[in-house]
Amino acid sequence: MKVYVMIGAPGAGKGTQADILAERLGLVHVASGDLFRDAVRNDTALGREARRYMERGALVPDPVVIGMIEERLSRPDAAAGIILDGFPRTRPQAEALDAALERRGSRVDAALYVGVPEDELVKRLSGRWLCRASGHVYNEATHPPLVAGVCDADGSELYQRDDDRPETVRARLEQQLPPMYEVIDHYTTRGSLVAVDGAQPVETVTEALLRAIAHPARPGRSEAA
Ligand code: AP5
Repeated sequence: MKVYVMIGAPGAGKGTQADILAERLGLVHVASGDLFRDAVRNDTALGREARRYMERGALVPDPVVIGMIEERLSRPDAAAGIILDGFPRTRPQAEALDAALERRGSRVDAALYVGVPEDELVKRLSGRWLCRASGHVYNEATHPPLVAGVCDADGSELYQRDDDRPETVRARLEQQLPPMYEVIDHYTTRGSLVAVDGAQPVETVTEALLRAIAHPARPGRSEAA
């Protein structure tokens, strides 16, 4: 079972890249944020708990996230290989993932860190639009839909996320960047971190990630795009 994790600040392009890589490599794309947003929409107990944190830009507590991801890993489609987007976000989550994969005789093949400067992140998030049906991602400035408010891929309505309001974006960056650096440290120590410059066109970032995946086992490496 191939396992890749995407690491990056809010708005770095994790979802954009994970979607493309999943399609190109035949992997299942699992985004922790999407799982939480589905739970919120369906008003489940998990959704009600997650919402309290998400609306403040805070991380959902580790035990809740870890339980949710372990359940997702145990579904049959994950056996084909998986790209985790937005998980792990803290060192305890990274350690729990290692343990869960070890029990399955597997491990993280590469941790893909997409780095983008903070001012660019704020711009990207304020211009982001998502489709209701499948979460296809657009951006007013860099990747607009052909018809405003309508998804090119499936015709569904486009919407903006509640947590993309400027004040919540600032809270997300402030609260979520320090633990992200601990996750980067975790995978650097294990020799599985690849750092890619995410402040480039989407296709250039994808090519850098694909090169990194094709040539693994160069500890702490940085892929020039
Ligand atoms: P989550 O949904 O994971 O949000 P996030 O990490 O904040 O990431 P985003 O989805 O905002 O950004 P992205 O990196 O996917 O960027 P995208 O590709 O969309 O989490 C939401 C919340 O759930 C969290 O705040 C937390 O509360 C909770 N949560 C989730 N996981 C958790 C966990 N493990 N532990 C605890 N809590 C958790 O791109 C952004 C925009 O930029 C788009 O408009 C896109 O078109 C554009 N763009 C992308 N790439 C480029 C490029 N190269 N050039 C120009 N524009 C680009």
